[in-house]
Parts: sequence; C-alpha cells; structure tokens
Amino acid sequence: MCGIVGYVGKQLAAPILVDGLRRLEYRGYDSAGVAIHNAEGLGVVRTLGKLRVLHEALSEQPLSGTVGIGHTRWATHGRPSEENAHPHVAGGVAVVHNGIIENHIALRRELEADGVVFSSDTDTEIVAHLIDRALRAGASKLVEAVRISLGRVQGAYAIAVVSEHEPATIVAARHGSPLVVGAGDGEMLCGSDIAALLSHTRDMVFLEDGDIAELTCAGVSYSNLAGEPVERESKRVDWSPVMAERGGYKHFMLKEIHEQPEAIAATVRGRLDLDAGDVHGGEIGLTEEIAKRTRRVYLVACGTSYHASLVGRYWIESLAKLPTFVELGSEVSCRDCVFFEDDLVIAVSQSGETFDTIGAVKAAKAAGATVLAVANVLDSAIPRMSHGALYTRAGPEIGVASTKCFSAQLVALLMIAVYLGRRRDALDAATGTEVLQALCEAPSQINELLGDADYVRSVAAQMAHATDVLFLGRGYNYPIALEGALKLKEISYAHAEGYAAGEMKHGPIALIDEDLPVVVVCPKDRTYEKTFANIQEVRAREGQVIVLATKGDEALHELAAHILWLPEASEWTLPLLTVVPLQLLAYYIAARKGHDVDQPRNLAKTVTVE
Ligand code: G6P
Repeated sequence: MCGIVGYVGKQLAAPILVDGLRRLEYRGYDSAGVAIHNAEGLGVVRTLGKLRVLHEALSEQPLSGTVGIGHTRWATHGRPSEENAHPHVAGGVAVVHNGIIENHIALRRELEADGVVFSSDTDTEIVAHLIDRALRAGASKLVEAVRISLGRVQGAYAIAVVSEHEPATIVAARHGSPLVVGAGDGEMLCGSDIAALLSHTRDMVFLEDGDIAELTCAGVSYSNLAGEPVERESKRVDWSPVMAERGGYKHFMLKEIHEQPEAIAATVRGRLDLDAGDVHGGEIGLTEEIAKRTRRVYLVACGTSYHASLVGRYWIESLAKLPTFVELGSEVSCRDCVFFEDDLVIAVSQSGETFDTIGAVKAAKAAGATVLAVANVLDSAIPRMSHGALYTRAGPEIGVASTKCFSAQLVALLMIAVYLGRRRDALDAATGTEVLQALCEAPSQINELLGDADYVRSVAAQMAHATDVLFLGRGYNYPIALEGALKLKEISYAHAEGYAAGEMKHGPIALIDEDLPVVVVCPKDRTYEKTFANIQEVRAREGQVIVLATKGDEALHELAAHILWLPEASEWTLPLLTVVPLQLLAYYIAARKGHDVDQPRNLAKTVTVE
C-alpha cells in the first residue's frame, strides 16, 4: 500500500508530484505529503486526508523547487495523522516509504538510546534517522548513506530519499515493494507504478529487489546493496496517459465498467486460433509440456481475483477435466496446503503485488509446483517470481473496486482452460471453437448490457435504502453472486452476502422477509430449474427478488420485483455478462448515497500487508 513518487528535473516539482500522487491515490489515501528542495532548504508539507487537502495546502503555501518526493498513505504503523504522514524528516533528510520495516522496534530503541527523539509512530521515520546518522558519521554521498542504512533494515520497502547535502539528487531503493524509474526530457522520475510516470515517459525501468537508483537531471545509475553497479534495461509500456483519465465519466469505476468490452477484446487479441478451437500457449505463459504433466490445478488469489478464480475452477474442470482447487492467498499460509511438483498453481492478481498471494506463490514454488501468474500490471512481483505469466490487457484500473480487471481475468482463465483441455485431449476442436467464438461475442453482448445502465440505475434508486442484501446463484453464477455482494459492500457500505443458492435453505432463508432484497443470478443455463425453485421459496416468504434473467423469461418476470435482462448467450461466457449488471447496481447505489466510489473508506487497491 502507499504510493511514492519522486521528480528531479527543470520544472516545478510540486504540481508534478501531486499529479503523480493523484494517479497513485488508489494505493492509499488517508494522508499525503511532499518534500521539495527550495531556496530555504527542504520544504515539507503534509496533510491529513485525501490528496485534495495537500493540493489546497500547497496552493496556500507554495513550494518552489525542481527536486522532490511525495507520498500518499494507507496507515500501517500509526493512525492516519499529519505527524504520521510522509515524508519523514531527520536532520536534512526526507524519506517516503511504501512497505513495512519489520525490525523497526529494535532499531527505534537503538536510535532512542543514541538520543534520537521521534516525532511519529511510523516505521519509516527510522529510515530517515538511520540515513541522517550515516551522513553525520561521514558517508560521502547520499547514495552511500542510504546503502549503509538499508543494510540495517529488514522487511519490505520501496523508498525515495532527498537530502539537503545533495539537493540535485534523489536516491530510490526497492526491496519487496514495487518501484519504477522513468526518464523524461531532461528529467528523471520514480514512482510506485507506471501510472505515476506516464505523463512524462513510457520508457520505464522496473527495479529489482536490492536495487538502489541514483537519479539526477542528467540520468540515473543503478547499484546494489553491496555498492556494485548493476545494469537495468528500460521497457516501453503500452499504456497511454489518457487511459488513466476519467474521460468524461463521473467516476473511474463507471468508466472501467464501460471499458470491459475493450478489456476483453484486448486480452484475447492475437491469442486465439478460432479454426483450431485452440489458444496459443506461448501467448499465455503455458507450454505443451506443462499442460501434459499437470495433474491438478490450484488457483490462489484474494478479493475479486479470488472470485474470478472460483469461476475459473468451473471452466478448468469442465474443459480440461483437471481436478481444480481454489484457495485464498491469506489462507495458504494458515494451512498446511499441500502442493505437488505436478501441480499447476495459477496466481491471479490484478496488481501482481498482493502480499498474501505472493506468500502462496512462494509456498507453491518451494514445493516444486509450476506457477503461472495472471496479472494486469507489467513486470509486477507475482509475474516476476512465477514460471510463466499471462498478462490481462485491461489497461490501468484506478477505481479501488475491481471491474474490468475481473472480466479480463475471467477471459485469461477461460483461455487457460481451453489450452489445457486441448493439450490433454479433454476438449475437441469443435467445442474449443464454440467456446472461443462465444468469447469473441462477449464484448458486443456486454455493450448491449451497458445500454441498459439507466434501467439498472432506476432499480438501484429503489434499493439504495437497503442495509442488507442477499445475492444468490448456482454453479458459476455462485461466484458471480459473491462478486456482486463484494462490489456492493465495498462501495455502498451496505451489508451484502453472496450465497450458493442451494445453501439458502441451510441458513440465509431465516433472514428473508419483505425488507430483504434478494438478488438472484438466474440465466437459462443448466442450473436454471433449481435456482428458479429457490426464487419461489424467497417469494413464498415475501422476500423481494431482483433477478438477472435471460431475455424473454416471462416466468421469472412474473416473480421478480425487478428484472435485469441478459442477452441470449452461450453458457461458457455467461459469467462475463452476469457480472456487469451487478457492478452497475453496486455503482449506482453507492453513487446515489454520495460515496466516494473510487476510493471507498478503509480500502486500498493494492494490498501489500498481511
Ligand atoms: C484489494 C482490492 C481488491 C482486489 C484485491 C486483490 O482488496 O481492493 O479490488 O480484488 O485487493 O488484489 P489483486 O491485485 O491481487 O487482484
């Protein structure tokens, strides 16, 4: 969590830092700050609350200067407050940090014994004092002081440091938390991710763990913790700055919901062989050999990605006939999860950075399993540590509640299922073609669903007062019900629960009365009859039912208080469609309540803590 950014160049740093932070705000938004070299030395402004508060403070108290660092925070050590906001300053040194210093208590005691008085509760302030101490002890350069200090630190970090001793330099370092360096025109930038740098450059260097970068106007040099120079290759990213703008939509989330047809189309582009009913293995990080030796598939993920994985399980079981398990990243470390060498472990993560999913990948690798990453962010931690990677091409997702990345993950998992099925003779070419053709039709079907957004908004208006909502579905409609409930609680703060419709009779049925809206995913598929019966059970208890049904289903129309129509579609791709009205429903309910849809309270998009 937390976003960091640094700028050294010829332009005023403050607006550039604030703009970079704006694009990183999804990583945390409880406080923010900048430190900028100006004529009086190091100017620091920190504010509690969202970035706009910092922006206002900088308008009242402008900081000139062309070199600086900035931070947007998601509190770990110490409550959100101005004192705990970054940058943290010691002597003439200012530090911004994303990550956790694990040995902070011991280091704090050591520094206190040395006479240091701390002004915050954060682990980060320790790093500032260590660097200050190293400089006082005679380190000749800032980069050297940073190296000495990092030698003392255990844990995960990405840091950027400025110091009055070297006002034209930023030193940045990475261990476990992401850091990207980019070269603009006579300027250098660093940041937690691509989005922060995009308006300046598309040529980026993704630092490796243990790298230290020294940035000046003239360029950048890389070294490691031992002080040896290292070479790092620049990569050109294909995201454009416009992709990270709201483009006329009120919220990023709404824009991203509408971008799903393109996210799906981009994720399949060049990867399918429709005639052969097959997928190109090289394009999706798999090989014939992996597919053939795999005996089980294990999907590991968190949050929305976990729900995508649950859908993926149905596809992999049906199309590849492989036993498939799905586990929450956070649970892998709490169980004695058994991985085998002939397991294919698929780590699904939009950000590619989620701490718990990384933990699961490490466990799988330690057991000798093959790990395939499904991620949206190029060169992020999980793809880097995996044996193969399938990048979804959803473009930058800014809204904290994931939408288009979920759809792109579904596409990735369906392609994996087809590839495995074809290699293992579980899927014939004709069925493969049928599945992939359905996939190619999904974007236009989603566009059709998006055309009904106004109707969903009117349903949302009638549901906005609900404090509890139940979501039901069977088969792959069940994970979609889970996802619908998650979306609603994330952004509307209503209590929402997703349940397998078949389990309703074992508990949730006790909740049903005339006040409880029950959203049921009930398209015409193989689960239809059974789910239909559940809807009747809800109606028999006066529950009000909001149903997702296939166009023309008059029987359901009669039972439902509201009906959200789905186009006729192949069963294989229904999850790509059914999720869309549920995303819109959550969005419109939250927007109607006046919530900050893109940055819901207490959440962050990238969760790098355990
Ligand atoms: C956070 C986000 C969710 C996301 C989850 C997993 O909780 O708010 O939207 O689904 O992390 O993130 P990942 O990047 O691993 O998909």
